[in-house]
Amino acid sequence: MVLDADNRALIQTIWPCIASHAEAYGSEALLRMFLSFPQTKTYFPDFEVSKDSPQMKAHGKKVVDALTNAVHHLDNIDAAMSKLSDLHAYDLRVDPGNFPLLAHHLLVTIAVHHPDKLDCLTHRALDKFLDLIGCALTSKYR
Ligand code: HEM
Repeated sequence: MVLDADNRALIQTIWPCIASHAEAYGSEALLRMFLSFPQTKTYFPDFEVSKDSPQMKAHGKKVVDALTNAVHHLDNIDAAMSKLSDLHAYDLRVDPGNFPLLAHHLLVTIAVHHPDKLDCLTHRALDKFLDLIGCALTSKYR
């Protein structure tokens, strides 16, 4: 799946609103995911699960910053995510079924904070983008 010019433009329009709240939105998405799907928390045994958890804020920012980097490379998401793909596949061995879960909670978080900006087409564009991220991050699994 490739992102066409319309989808790229929609992602690039909304993303600055997300990138500028990387720590808050990233950590909220993680919190929502851990609460709804407790099995995802097993990958982060040392994280305190709360809104103000320093580990969740730091990690949430890392995740959203990585997505911001991918938004800057929408023409080659696989290359932009290559090192993270190695990390998740070979070192962390994250079950691929978890990537759609984080994507879902990122989308919910964006919807909560920017309901006016998340029209149907922007929602679809972000859904495709996060799906491509999941594909890139699981491309090294076999
Ligand atoms: C949108 C999808 C995701 C992105 C963009 C992403 C991004 C990242 C980034 C940037 C790091 C830090 C890498 C570093 O410090 O060098 C990381 C680490 C990690 N990720 Fe992901 N990740 C994603 C999904 C997931 C999922 C679904 C899980 C498991 C449920 C997961 C588990 C981990 C773990 C356990 C670490 C190491 C954390 C630590 O030890 O501090 N990731 N990820």
